[in-house]
Amino acid sequence: MEKQPLYEGKAKRIFATNNEDEVLVYYKDDATAFNGEKKGTILNKGILNNRISSFFFKLLSEQGIPNHFVSMPSDREMLVKSLKILLVEVVVRNIAAGSLAKRIGWEEGRKMPCTVVEMYYKNDDLGDPLINDYHIKALGLATAEQVAKMEEYALKINTILTNYLKEKDLELIDFKLEFGLHKGEVMLGDEISPDTCRFWDSKTGEKLDKDRFRRNLGNVEEAYKEVLLRLTGEVL
Ligand code: TMP
Repeated sequence: MEKQPLYEGKAKRIFATNNEDEVLVYYKDDATAFNGEKKGTILNKGILNNRISSFFFKLLSEQGIPNHFVSMPSDREMLVKSLKILLVEVVVRNIAAGSLAKRIGWEEGRKMPCTVVEMYYKNDDLGDPLINDYHIKALGLATAEQVAKMEEYALKINTILTNYLKEKDLELIDFKLEFGLHKGEVMLGDEISPDTCRFWDSKTGEKLDKDRFRRNLGNVEEAYKEVLLRLTGEVL
């Protein structure tokens, strides 16, 4: 049966299913950075991110965080609940890195005295600008209650993932989340993977995430494989 394509993004394709409540996500190997300016392929990234994201979503479900994961029917496919995505990207930061390090003039690797939550406007034409609660209200991107829910979940997710990853000798530097509405309720969507998180080896400080691609550090696929191995014991 030909699958009905609904949407194609930079890293994933979305297909309709027979159940109007669910859609199928197909994880590609395509990689982009700097809002699509840098393009490339990371061999097997689709498989690695599908497996890693599935693992994290199951962990979060066990811990009571509502998320879109339903099942992983194949290596590159994830069945998820259909969400109306809120056009807000939520970034949580424990250690200064990337755009925050630049914005506030801190060296990468300096610990934040408190966890920092940021909101970005999900808009490729504008390059996903940083926004605050007032912009969200003015643009009608989400209600105050929805913003509060996203923040609450983001902080809980940070605690769950930070503690879990610590046992695997991985430091959770920062990560990006996307939420949507399912039957009116705020629910975590998108993916949680080395594409959307910064993971540093706790002992060596080695970067095990997409910064290897963004910054041309080499051994990109190997880093993603290492994350999968540490999380699940699976070798790809
Ligand atoms: P940043 O330091 O570049 O703002 O990135 C913060 C976190 O968000 C980092 O873990 C990578 C993730 N991220 C995405 O998932 N998608 C993006 O488009 C960008 C810019 C960052």
